[in-house]
Amino acid sequence: MTAPARTRDSAGLIRAEEPVLAHNYHPLPVVVARAEGSWVEDVEGRRYLDMLAGYSALNFGHRHPALVEAAHRQLDRLTLTSRAFHHDRLAEFAERLAALTGLDMVLPMNTGAEAVESGVKVARKWAYDVKGVPADRATIVVAADNFHGRTTTIVSFSTDETARTGFGPFTPGFRIVPYNDLAALEAAVDETTAAVLIEPVQGEAGVIVPDDGYLAGVREVTRRAGCLFVADEIQSGLGRTGRTLAVDHEGVVPDVLLLGKALGGGIVPVSAVVARREVLGVLRPGEHGSTFGGNPLAAAVGTAVVGLLETGEFQRRAAELGVVLREGLAGLAGKGVVGFRARGLWAGVDIDPAIGTGRGISERLMREGVLVKDTHGSTIRLAPPLTVTAEELRSALQVLGTVLGRA
Ligand SMILES: Cc1ncc(COP(=O)(O)O)c(C=O)c1O
Repeated sequence: MTAPARTRDSAGLIRAEEPVLAHNYHPLPVVVARAEGSWVEDVEGRRYLDMLAGYSALNFGHRHPALVEAAHRQLDRLTLTSRAFHHDRLAEFAERLAALTGLDMVLPMNTGAEAVESGVKVARKWAYDVKGVPADRATIVVAADNFHGRTTTIVSFSTDETARTGFGPFTPGFRIVPYNDLAALEAAVDETTAAVLIEPVQGEAGVIVPDDGYLAGVREVTRRAGCLFVADEIQSGLGRTGRTLAVDHEGVVPDVLLLGKALGGGIVPVSAVVARREVLGVLRPGEHGSTFGGNPLAAAVGTAVVGLLETGEFQRRAAELGVVLREGLAGLAGKGVVGFRARGLWAGVDIDPAIGTGRGISERLMREGVLVKDTHGSTIRLAPPLTVTAEELRSALQVLGTVLGRA
């Protein structure tokens, strides 16, 4: 007889997943049982510094007291109504999120992919209703090496063959141009273009930071073409880069903002399309929806997240600690690090392939008590909680240096 999961050790729990869970992930062999702040603890009580933070879903650390309290309070009052009825938490969430981002209206959803799907639908509807694009002819221009999620429509405009192969037929209506190339973008937009959809920093691609002026250029190209600028800030937004939004680095306001991950405080899935009234105003009852989108628990946690960001403290921390991160990585250049890109408390670090793969280095870091995740071959991604201390960050960088030195 198989022992119940709760009595198993890490190795047993990993083995137990094998026959009953789809193999669509290849996690590091660590089984987390509890966490607080920047630290997680495995089943055996070993502690690890979390330098991934749920791909930025944990920008405020694990179980931030203000967020946990907001969730507890809401759990004791009201958790779900569906949008068939109004509830008393939604208006404030939308008001404060719109004010934080400088936009007008909010469409609450749950996951990042849903926000992207919703953004695509809204952009197309806007193209037909407002821009006057003939029915079913709207195009959306996207960037190569993008990552926007996993639905069939979203992988239709991915350039990652692993994400696409075996999942066709694909949704038409997308044009792919190189990232960080304004001339190519300019050439791709025309009278059918509903929107340009990009990540202001490409996260999954390895924290690719575009040249200064690119985001302002995208704003200018889209303005001239009379199409929408849709910024997917699901990973780059909400403090990660040292500003509330990554587009803030260039003082750019997109027409549509896609948010997710940290918006749920690492507690519940909360995503949103936030946009100008002229854009989100195109939706009419029945045209789009989600049973869980904007539910009272999500709205309560999301409002508490917005409350944390309203203080500016996390953006400031990310900017200040980002300097520590950059300096630490610069010190590893030529010592196993062949290149890195960073913005705020977020970095893609290219490891010398002669030393090992990103996966191999991630496993070695794990054994030394630091959790990161590889992306694309020899790149590892660092995205600690914005609550991490300078000492914790320095110690993680020191461990990275030691692991690379030994490799
Ligand atoms: C930029 C971006 N957009 C969309 C998504 C999809 O979010 P989710 O996994 O919540 O569907 C991600 C996830 O990594 C992302 O980084």
